[in-house]
Amino acid sequence: MCGIVGYIGNKDAYDILIKGLHRLEYRGYDSAGVALMQDDGKLNGYKSRGKVADLEAFCQAKDISGRAGIAHTRWATHGEPNDVNAHPHFSASKNIALVHNGTIENYNVLKEALQLQGCTFKSDTDTEVLVQLIEYIKTTNKCSLIEAVREALKEVIGAYAIAVLDTQYPDQIIAARKSSPLVIGIGKDEFFLASDATPIIEYTDKVVYLNDDEIAIIQRGKELKIITIDNVQTTVDIHTLRMSVSQLEKGGYPHFMLKEIFEQPRTIHDCIRGRIGNTGSKVTLSGVLENRDKFLNAHRIIIVACGTSWHAGLIGKRLIQEIARIPVEVEYASEFRYSNPVLTPDDIVIAISQSGETADTLAAIKMARKCGAFVYGVCNVVGSSIARATDSGTYIHVGPEIGVASTKAFTGQVTVLTMLALAIGQLRGTVKEKEAVEITDALRSLPKLIRQALKLNDDIERLSGIYTYVHNFLYLGRGYNYPSALEGALKLKEISYIHAEGYPAAEMKHGPIALIDHELPTVVIAPNDELHEKIISNIQQVKARGGSVIAIVTKGDKTIAEIADHILEIPDVPETISPVIVSIPLQLLAYHIAVKKGCNVDMPRNLAKSVTVE
Ligand code: AGP
Repeated sequence: MCGIVGYIGNKDAYDILIKGLHRLEYRGYDSAGVALMQDDGKLNGYKSRGKVADLEAFCQAKDISGRAGIAHTRWATHGEPNDVNAHPHFSASKNIALVHNGTIENYNVLKEALQLQGCTFKSDTDTEVLVQLIEYIKTTNKCSLIEAVREALKEVIGAYAIAVLDTQYPDQIIAARKSSPLVIGIGKDEFFLASDATPIIEYTDKVVYLNDDEIAIIQRGKELKIITIDNVQTTVDIHTLRMSVSQLEKGGYPHFMLKEIFEQPRTIHDCIRGRIGNTGSKVTLSGVLENRDKFLNAHRIIIVACGTSWHAGLIGKRLIQEIARIPVEVEYASEFRYSNPVLTPDDIVIAISQSGETADTLAAIKMARKCGAFVYGVCNVVGSSIARATDSGTYIHVGPEIGVASTKAFTGQVTVLTMLALAIGQLRGTVKEKEAVEITDALRSLPKLIRQALKLNDDIERLSGIYTYVHNFLYLGRGYNYPSALEGALKLKEISYIHAEGYPAAEMKHGPIALIDHELPTVVIAPNDELHEKIISNIQQVKARGGSVIAIVTKGDKTIAEIADHILEIPDVPETISPVIVSIPLQLLAYHIAVKKGCNVDMPRNLAKSVTVE
């Protein structure tokens, strides 16, 4: 939800920190701040409401020297977005600065205890309680910073990724994590710290992923040292990053979201590569092969996810039930984690998450494993918390997704779920060769088919001008494309702030049709599939009540062309992979309407790319 960055080495820290904050701004952007440590122990801190650019303006003509520093871009959890609640937060003596991503659930109890000891607070945040607690312990116990941090974190209930500076130790940054992500970059005589690898990759590809309850002692000129909250030294596992800086740039596009929409022919190619051959119907997923018995003996699959990933899960349900003939339930992770589910070792839980850091999904995984279920991850970010918390899994390999609205990750998730259904079906002998050939041929042709669908961009840009200022939208779909309707509605509302609802098309007559009038446009997903006749009558029901209809149809569909107000033609594809193709016009429609409305497409208000708190 928030982004934190740190640097200690022989360069000026300020520029590195600010550039890092820009890379993390998609995680949260209502306020930002930086703390800079000079070699003599002088500590300066600057913070302001607004985006990172506002912080840069605020830092003009300030003393921004220092070869060590920490910085933060915020998505408010406790305390409104303003200058006082912005991070870094300082201890009473101003000798300790701290930035935090996460939520301290027992902060009120800790705050009251500190107030009884005479501590006073400037902000409404949980984070200030932590930095004050660290100083209180350090002063009271006359101990080192690392000892004070360790003892303070033992008192904390909740999630945190923190970085701490102390004027007593100007050559040191202390970092720690529990449930919120933290990556340490190891450079030549310098260290980097960030909520994910994107601020680090341009300096080094050697990284360490901090684990829960670990504390890192990052000392200029010394080897990285990691201990547990119980003061047990742990090994430093160094990983090599497989991403490039160019993947983080906009590449000439006006927004990351549009770049990522147009990347999808390549990202789907990358997602499939090595998993289905150039010919034949065999699907090879190592996560399935290494756990054959689990998938052979599974009686039930439960998919847990949030948001767009949950929509992908709904499509995964249909695919796995139809192809692998295993009963599948799909749960919101936030509901599942508190539902006291009946789980058995014959259950497989599939957790879907682009970021691999969504708190509710991570919590659902931990609970499922505690109940003995086998947990399989479908993630994008390599080495993410969810990827490391599951028993096995399949990465979607679509590269860093920066735009808050998920696009290429969604199509990557659906593609992996299609291959997963086939791999399990082939293992269990439930899929006919003819069906497997049809689906794998269609998967191989996906990049070409997506390129065809992307040709709708100019038509949709023009169409979006008609619907820029409507207040409500309805999205209808059936079968595999009912989840597509939900996803199309979510795309529109999260970046254009227009209310939109997705419904199963046949559900209209049970109430929602009362909404239809000339002010309520309806997007109908109507590819040429087995329910085509049914969806035509749904369109006619909308038109009969004065509603306008934008229909996504299979190329050459003359019937719907005669009744809909606008048609968007997509290539003819098997129903099982139609959601991938259908999502292209849905993504473009949301994008262009939001741009026409002047919305911040890559960083929509109130949202963050990765929801790492409850
Ligand atoms: C999708 O456009 C949203 N950004 C959001 O719903 C997202 O899908 C959800 O927060 C889940 O994120 P995850 O896939 O990283 O777990």
